[in-house]
Amino acid sequence: MERIKMPKNLRNNITLVSETCDKHHKPIQKMMFEGEPVCPICMKEQWDLELTAKVNAEIQANKQNAAYNILFDKSILEDNTLLNARVHNFLSHGQEEAVNKQKVQLAIKRYQDGEVFNLILQGNPGAGKSHLAYSTLFELNETHKFSCLFISVGSMLRKIRASFKDKESKYTEEYFNRLLSDVDFLVLDDIGAETGAITSDKTATDFVQRVLYDIANARQGKPTILTTNLDGKTLFNMYDSKLVSRLMRNPEVVIFKESKDKRITTLF
Ligand SMILES: Nc1ncnc2c1ncn2[C@@H]1O[C@H](COP(=O)(O)OP(=O)(O)OP(=O)(O)O)[C@@H](O)[C@H]1O
Ligand SMILES: [Mg+2]
Ligand SMILES: [Zn+2]
Repeated sequence: MERIKMPKNLRNNITLVSETCDKHHKPIQKMMFEGEPVCPICMKEQWDLELTAKVNAEIQANKQNAAYNILFDKSILEDNTLLNARVHNFLSHGQEEAVNKQKVQLAIKRYQDGEVFNLILQGNPGAGKSHLAYSTLFELNETHKFSCLFISVGSMLRKIRASFKDKESKYTEEYFNRLLSDVDFLVLDDIGAETGAITSDKTATDFVQRVLYDIANARQGKPTILTTNLDGKTLFNMYDSKLVSRLMRNPEVVIFKESKDKRITTLF
C-alpha cells in the first residue's frame, strides 16, 4: 500500500507512533491526532466517504430542484391568470363546483399516495377545468417535489409546426416528446380545441395524432391530466382509437355542466 507522504513542515509538528492498524492489518506509522493515534489511510478513507456523501447529496438536491422548477420554467400556458390558480382559491358558487373541487382534492391525495390513473376534467368553457388542473400540479410539486408540467396542447402544436420552418427553434417535436414523456405529472390542457370548432366531427390531422400518440404511449404507467370541452364520444370520433384508449385508460372523470363561465361573469 502506498505511504501517504506528509509535507515537511507538517511532519515536524506531528508525532508518529508505530502501531498496527486493525483495519489495514499491518504496522503503520499512526499520527497523533487529538490525543489519539490515527491511521492516515483510515483517515483518508473516512474523508473520501464524507466527500462522496456530500457530493451525492448535492447532486440529489440539484436534481430535486430541477424537477421542482420544471412547472415554472417549461410549462406553456395560454392564460397567465392560471399561474395563481390554487385549490384553496377555487370558489364554489354552486353544488357542481363544490363536488368537483372535492373530487380533485381526493385525486390529489391519491396521487400523493402513489396511485396511477388519468384525470379528465371535461365540460363547458370558463368552468374552472384548467384552474383545477394547474392547482393539482402546483400541489403535487409543492408537497412531493414531483416533476410537473402544464402544456396547452394548441400552443405546443403551433410551436412544433413553427419549428419545421425555423431551424433555430428549440421547440421541436423531439423536444416536446422528451419533455412530456419524462415528467411525473403532465397536464394536456384543452385537448381537442386544436382542431377548431368544439362540437365538430372533424378528425385530427396525422401530424396531431402522431404527436399526441407518441406522448400518450410513452406515458403509460404515469398519470396524465386532461382538460377538454369535448365529451368522450367526440374525442373518439376525432382521434385514433389507440390514442384515445391510452388517454382514457382507467380515468377519473370530473364533469362540468352547470358551472358558469368565470371569464365573462364580470359582464353580467
Ligand atoms: N371556481 C372558481 N373560483 C375561482 N376562479 C375560477 C373558478 N373557476 C374558474 N376560475 C378562473 O376563471 C378563469 C377561467 O377558468 P379556467 O381557465 O379554469 O376555465 P376552463 O374550464 O379551463 O375553460 P376553457 O374550457 O375555455 O379552457 C381562470 O382565470 C380561473 O382561474
Ligand atoms: Mg381551460
Ligand atoms: Zn487503517
